[in-house]
Amino acid sequence: MKLGNEQIKGIGFEYNITLFQDFDGLSNEILQLSNLTNIVVVTDKNVAKLYLDEINKELKKLNLPVYHIILKPSEKNKSIDRVKKVYNKLASLGCDRKSLILAFGGGVVGDFAGFIAATFLRGIRFAQIPTTLLACVDSSVGGKVAVNIDKGKNMVGLFYQPVFVFAPIHTLSTLPLREWRCGVAEVIKHALLSGNKKLVEALNTTKTFKNFYLSEEVKTFILESVRFKASIVAEDEKELGKRAILNLGHTIGHAIESFTKYKKYSHGEAVSIGLVTELVISQEVQNLPSVVTQETVGTLKKLGMPYKENFSMEDLIKHTKYDKKNEQGNVKFVLLQKIGEPLWGIQVEESVLKKSWDMQRKL
Ligand code: NAD
Ligand code: GLY
Repeated sequence: MKLGNEQIKGIGFEYNITLFQDFDGLSNEILQLSNLTNIVVVTDKNVAKLYLDEINKELKKLNLPVYHIILKPSEKNKSIDRVKKVYNKLASLGCDRKSLILAFGGGVVGDFAGFIAATFLRGIRFAQIPTTLLACVDSSVGGKVAVNIDKGKNMVGLFYQPVFVFAPIHTLSTLPLREWRCGVAEVIKHALLSGNKKLVEALNTTKTFKNFYLSEEVKTFILESVRFKASIVAEDEKELGKRAILNLGHTIGHAIESFTKYKKYSHGEAVSIGLVTELVISQEVQNLPSVVTQETVGTLKKLGMPYKENFSMEDLIKHTKYDKKNEQGNVKFVLLQKIGEPLWGIQVEESVLKKSWDMQRKL
């Protein structure tokens, strides 16, 4: 059953992002594509165990050869080292320019499979089938595909748009609590950047993630997030300007992840603390009313997400230096003047960073 739809239309690309209850409807989306020779489902072990039979049943309707590449889950495997193996596998399966890759999973699978699709045979078609909230509200839309190198996350990648995004939200029923929280951090980011009333209302009414996938709020989270993100990407696909706002909370968030060696926090948890810190910086530099920070902390607390950290800013600063938004070694921030009024590319003095970090410690 179809639950909602959004369209993204930029310069040289246009595709649908559709929310479905289950996989019914996926074969119809694929049938809109011309001249397919075969389909390669790229997924991870966790998703395969839960949903591979179900997706295969739907793909069978197409009467095309369907192959599977099943990755080990986790960010560690979104690496440049894994890429060659997958290229060789695609070649040995006889994949050609008319093959379709289905990136079936969370953001790790989406970024990795998208990178493979963008580069194999100089680019073949791929579609995103997101199965985590984070992937539904953020990573499946907008065409950022990448792999990691030793020096940092997502350091090698392209802007390469999928041919469609198909979100089967019943898959969210098995999402671990920590993964719900990762997605919610990005939803809070979208609410702060856009001021979208439906998103703010849905965040206020969400109390628990138990059976959350059945709620109206989850549909609002996805459709309103996607609507907002699509409007930004349509204007600035390659992040030459405004798209940078989508990194709110991520300069500090990435530094926290890197400083804690990707062990203490999930991405969303690090972004939660990053969002709060960058709101405090915004208070200092852009006169953002402190009530915005207080309300954001209230939402994070209610949802059981971390919002502050105690280690030293000196340690953290070193880890901001590989951020992709940096220019000539200078760290650049996205800050808010008001809800819905972000600014990007802002350099912040170290003394302000230290003061803001101390303020967030005391929240
Ligand atoms: P993930 O892909 O690692 O998935 C999280 C965990 O949930 C994994 O263990 C996975 O196997 C499991 N899982 C996935 N779907 C499930 C389901 N339905 N039920 C049960 N378990 C399930 O993590 P993520 O949070 O989805 O994505 C994080 C990645 O996304 C990072 O690599 C980040 O860099 C990237 N990202 C990319 C963009 C972009 O614009 N391309 C945006 C944000 C984040
Ligand atoms: N997640 C940030 C972006 O897509 O630009």
